[in-house]
Parts: sequence; structure tokens; C-alpha cells
Amino acid sequence: MLLLSLTLFLSFSNTFVYAGSHTKGQNCTIGNNRLQFGTYQFHSDCDAQTYCSSQGTCELKGCRRDQYPFGYPPEAHLPPKCPSGQFCPDESDACQPLLPVDSPCQLNRDDQCESPPNWQELADTSKYGRNVNGSVCLNNVCMWANVTVGLSCEVENTAYVAYAGTTEFIDIVSRGNCQTGLYCDSQSLVCIQTRQLGETCDADKECLSFNCLSKGVCGPSADLPNHFGIWVYTMVGVGIFGGMFATLITLFLIHRRQRDQEREKRLQYWREQNAFRQSIMQMKEIARTSILSLPGGNGNSNRSTVCSRAGSEESSTPMIQHSVHKSSGLRQQCLSDDNGSIYDEFMMQAGQR
Ligand SMILES: *[C@@H]1O[C@H](CO)[C@@H](O)[C@H](O)[C@H]1NC(C)=O
Ligand SMILES: *[C@@H]1O[C@H](CO)[C@@H](O)[C@H](O)[C@H]1NC(C)=O
Ligand SMILES: *[C@@H]1O[C@H](CO)[C@@H](O)[C@H](O)[C@H]1NC(C)=O
Repeated sequence: MLLLSLTLFLSFSNTFVYAGSHTKGQNCTIGNNRLQFGTYQFHSDCDAQTYCSSQGTCELKGCRRDQYPFGYPPEAHLPPKCPSGQFCPDESDACQPLLPVDSPCQLNRDDQCESPPNWQELADTSKYGRNVNGSVCLNNVCMWANVTVGLSCEVENTAYVAYAGTTEFIDIVSRGNCQTGLYCDSQSLVCIQTRQLGETCDADKECLSFNCLSKGVCGPSADLPNHFGIWVYTMVGVGIFGGMFATLITLFLIHRRQRDQEREKRLQYWREQNAFRQSIMQMKEIARTSILSLPGGNGNSNRSTVCSRAGSEESSTPMIQHSVHKSSGLRQQCLSDDNGSIYDEFMMQAGQR
């Protein structure tokens, strides 16, 4: 429905733009006054600010219907709106008094007709505005919307051309003179109670909500705002926070794995260095024992664990000295087969100093 009104509105404004272009004082032909096909927008030779007078010239309009009429610059002087009890016709030449029942009126201009004495009772105050103050203009005749259930009524079907995207379709608007809450059935021509939500229907007018869905049941009013249940908000909230926490936890796990890999690498490096150092120590010991076992050695050959002052190492193993870290010269180094004992000794000595 909304799309429909929008497309109708757009085609209306297009018609306005391409409507009569004659300005004030130029010639026009009254016979050219007409309702445009499809939109039923009033059209004349004259432009938006003028109407075609009986003298055949365009004259400034004498009244307006809209608060902000189309075709006027912002600061322009506007023709007046009509006072209560009068109306401004489609031509907008001058205000006229309301028309009594059975007088000729213009298409869809319920406001041109005099209201019934009980207009407060009959007026449709809903947003659909199926009558104006209880009066309707059907088939160009003023009447009152006062027919009750089961009585014969009049109906007026108008086929508008509507557009959905690029495709045209016909939108039939059916109006009647039944009281509010009833509709005039086009076949039997009697007033029938409008249907509630979910009941079967053939046309919008049959529904209280004025919206007959394509599956043939009355749907909620087409301009009703869309409401979402609490669960939708809950799901969205859970989704947002769940996503956040999932990201955090994933990052934490990834970083933990990277940290573990780094630690493993360092441990590996430490083991390599340790093994390297030990092989150097072994080389040193082998070198020393081979030197000591030479004939003319100083007789220390039968010690199983080699303890030596760092100072004496310098003289006995000068070629290894560079690869081992600089010794203070005070440290006692004890070498054994046990893997960790060298380091224990180092730690202990470092603590003592
Ligand atoms: C307007 O109408 C008059 C007589 O009807 C004619 O002489 C004149 O040429 C017309 N002017 C224009 C602009 O059509
Ligand atoms: C309906 O009638 C009352 C009283 O006559 C008037 O004040 C009011 O403007 C009318 N409403 C419309 C929409 O014409
Ligand atoms: C209903 O309206 C018509 C005019 O449309 C009028 O002639 C008739 O008297 C009204 N009936 C009632 C009961 O008011």
C-alpha cells in the first residue's frame, strides 16, 4: 500500500511538471480541462499557478486546497484557503459553497458535499478517511454515508494505474456510501460488515485494516510499524557478546600456543647450548688426560673427577679457552658425568659472590 501511494504520488508530481505550461494572460481552452488518465489528476492548459477562465485566458488561481501547494516559489503570495462551509474546486478558480445531497461533485472530492445533520455520528475519523464529515461524492453525486447493514448502497470503482518498479498494474479503488465499519459489496450492492484480521477477503475495502493480503485474508494495517519480539533483541545481544568473547578466547588460545612454541624453542636452544658446552668440556678433559698420560706428566692422572683452578687451565688448555666464557680465575670447576651438576655448581658459586 505504501509503495502504491508513493508511486501514485510520483506519477502525480510528474503530471504536474508536464501539465499545462501557459502562464497568466496566455490563451487556453476550457475544453482541455480533464482528469489525467491513470492518475485522475486535474489537468488544464494553464500552469500550476493559474486556471483557465471562461474568457479562454489563464488567470491567477483564486483559492488553494493544500497548505503548501505545488508550483509556487518559497516566498510567493499564495491564494487563500477556503473558509469552513466552502470548498476549492479542482480548477481552483474561487471558493464555492458546499453542495447539497444529489448535486454534482468532482471525483474523490467528498469535501465538496454538505455534511448530514448527524455528521459527528457518520464521520470516518480513522486514517483511511472513507468519508468527509459523513458525506461522500460517488459517481459525481453528493450523498451521505449513512446506509446500514443489509441495505442497498451505491458503489464507485475507479481504476488507477500504479507502478511497481517498471511494471504497470491496475489498482481499483472501490468506495461506497455505507456507514463507517461497513463496505458496499460490488456484486450484491448491499452494505456488509468489514472483516477482522485473518478473515477471508477479496479487496482492501472488506478489511477493517484496509489491507487484503494476496493470499486472500485480512492482514494488519499496511502502515503498521514492524515490531520485533524480545527474543530477537536477546538473540542479537547474545550474538554480539558471544562474538566478542569467542574472538577474545580464540586470540587467547592462539597466543598461548605461540607462547608455548616460543618456550619450547628456548628450551631446545638451552639444551643445545648445554650439550655443546658439555662436549667442549669432554674435549677439554680428553685433551688434559691425553697430555697428562704423556711421559713426564705432573702425576695428577689418576683423579677420576678433575678439579682445577681456573688459572691453571690457561696454561694447560690454551686453545679451548676462547670458546668457553671468560673465567674469573677464582672459580673452582668440578666436572663430572652428571648432566646438571656443573650448572648447580655455577649457580651456587654465583650466589656466594
Ligand atoms: C489567442 O487567441 C486569440 C483569439 O482567440 C488569437 O488571436 C491569438 O493569436 C491567440 N494567441 C496565442 C498565443 O495563441
Ligand atoms: C466537519 O464539520 C465541522 C462542522 O461543520 C467543521 O468544523 C469541520 O471543519 C469539518 N471537517 C472537515 C474535514 O471538513
Ligand atoms: C441517507 O442519506 C441520503 C442521501 O445520501 C438521504 O437522502 C437519506 O435520507 C439518508 N437516510 C437517513 C436514514 O438518514
